[in-house]
Parts: sequence; structure tokens; C-alpha cells
Amino acid sequence: MSIRIPIAKPELGAEEIAAVTRVLESGMLISGRLVEEFERGLAERCGRRHAIAVANGTAALELALRALDISSGEVLVPAMSWPSPAHVAAWVGATPRLVDIDRDTWNGEAAGLAAARTAATTAVIAIDQFGVPADQPAIAAALPGLPIIEDSACAIGSTLGGRACGSFGDISCLSFHPRKVLTTGEGGACLTDDDQLAERLRVYRNHGQRAVGDFVEPGPNERITEMQAAIGLVQLDRLDGMIARRREIAGAYRQVLPGLGIAFQQHPDGATVNEQTFGAVVPAGVERDAFVAAMQEQGIGAGILSYALTRIGSLVQLGQSAPVAEEIVDRGFALPVHTAMSDEDVADVIAALERALA
Ligand SMILES: Cc1ncc(COP(=O)(O)O)c(C=O)c1O
Repeated sequence: MSIRIPIAKPELGAEEIAAVTRVLESGMLISGRLVEEFERGLAERCGRRHAIAVANGTAALELALRALDISSGEVLVPAMSWPSPAHVAAWVGATPRLVDIDRDTWNGEAAGLAAARTAATTAVIAIDQFGVPADQPAIAAALPGLPIIEDSACAIGSTLGGRACGSFGDISCLSFHPRKVLTTGEGGACLTDDDQLAERLRVYRNHGQRAVGDFVEPGPNERITEMQAAIGLVQLDRLDGMIARRREIAGAYRQVLPGLGIAFQQHPDGATVNEQTFGAVVPAGVERDAFVAAMQEQGIGAGILSYALTRIGSLVQLGQSAPVAEEIVDRGFALPVHTAMSDEDVADVIAALERALA
């Protein structure tokens, strides 16, 4: 059966096409005015002094660890996630220490992260999972002296206590992958208030160059293009509208799911959420894969939720466990949320849910 309502669909239209066309016609494809403008827009949106746009969210995390001189010891990482935060920790030479998540918000919580800290701990990557803000102030307070990387890959436009996600970490990281609320195809950014860290990040993303030909240390090329920045600037202008529609859709799900016995990711007090992913868990006794298949047979692109990092092939040898993350991953699913969905589509998803559970 073909999928009529996909789980995600980027909102890209005439404005993005015109913006990219202008770049192509200009012949200035990299390192131009639009990347700088996009960075200023991101910094302003997230309330930071600096934004450094890079090739993708994974590159942002890797550069953040390198800029903070993390290359050994243990890096605390919440155990339910796309693998990037744990992979980059391992890749720079540290050991990921996978910390179980809160059963309600699905984020790493301050007490759990603090309890996992040892003399070997060198940093924490605190994820705002699916755009739901982690309690970043509490995490910072519980882990004094530890560098904090806020992984806001999913969280642009979310806030906690009136502060933007992306404003909390020593360095915060964004992703602009097509599943995210704001997309540039591939793309990401590091955000910081620290001038020296910002300078290091700019040097690292550009072959280790401080200025043209001034190579100060070996470095990769993790720049984004002017075409991506052009798309990002259009998307940034539309961000609030896109989030508003997502919140209407997620709000409709929230109204009906309790009546169907379906629990879903909870928002902490004081949060506004961009609804990047609508995550829920099947009721006790319902087999998740069969349920997802029943949704897909009705043309609804429901999918599995995420990964238990304790169990993926690249990290299973660490021999760590995280029972809450593992349970939520086994029972979790995501429902379609994107701005191309009409009210009828939302009603169709809900009707399909009722039939899949019947
Ligand atoms: C929490 C988290 N961190 C990092 C990333 C990596 O972002 P990218 O796909 O842009 O490399 C993702 C991507 O899904 C993510 O969900």
C-alpha cells in the first residue's frame, strides 16, 4: 500500500527556488554573503553572539567537541537518540557513557546525568530530544565545571523558561536535515557566546584556515554552501508559521490519544515546543511493529521512533544498558507532522489510529 500521508515533508516552495536560482546565477556558490546572513539570523533567533554554519548536525557536534578539546575520558550522552552524539564522542577519542532517559520527557535528566559523572567524565551532550527542551539549566547546575554541548539538532524554535533552545550550551548544535523543522537539505550550525570558541569553530570548519592561506592547524572542510544558506534564510523567515501549524496538528493528536490509551512524549513546565517529531508509545499488549504496519497499510507513514544507543551495532560492545530508553524505543512510534497536512489529513491519521488499535 502506498503512503498517502508521509511522516515528514519539508515545506519548500517558490521562494526557496527563487533564492537558490539567484545564487546559481550569481556564480558565488560558497563562502559568500548569504552564509554570513544566515549565521546572523540563527544567532539572533537563538539569542547567541555567534552562529557558525556547517555541513550537517553531526559535523556541528564533532567540531564542538574538538573546539572544547574533548578527546578522551567519558562523554555523557542520553541513551535514546539518533547515534550522532555518541558516535562523535567515540570518533574524537572519548567513550560515550550512555545515560538512561526520563520516562515522561524522554530527555536525559539532571539527576541521572550527575549520577553518571565520574572522575573520567570530560563533557556532556544534553539532547533536546524531538524538539522537547531538556532541563538545561538544571543539567548545568548539577554538573558544575563540565563542558556542556546542547544538542538542539531537532529543537530550533523551541523554548524553555522563555529562552531559546540553542542558547544553553557552552556550544549548542543545530541540524537542518530534511526531517527537521527548518531544512537546508544537509546543514547544521554551532552556536556559542564565547569569542574564542567561535573563532576555533570557524577555523576548524574551513581546512584549519584563519584567513585565506593562513593554515593554523589541520582541519576538515565542513562548510555549507550559499545555496543552502539561501534556503535557510527563507526558512528562517517562515519558521514561526511552520511551527504554529505543527503545533495545531500535534495539539489535535494530544486531544484524542489519551482516549485511545496512547501515552506520548511530555513537555516540561515552561516549555514551548516546535513539534519536530510527534512521538508516542503503543498501549500495553499492542505489538508495535504490527501497529506501525497497520498504519502504513492505511497509507499513513507512521514509523519507529528512535534508537536505543545501548543496542546499536556500533556501540553495543560498550556493554551499557538503559532500560527506560530501550522500552520506549521498543514501544515507540512517530506520527506524521508537517505543514502540508490538511485538517482532513489529521482526521485521517486519527481514524487510522482508531482502526489500527481496534
Ligand atoms: C539528536 C540529534 N543529534 C544530531 C543529529 C545529526 O544531525 P545531521 O543529520 O544533520 O547530521 C540528529 C539527526 O537526526 C539528531 O536527531
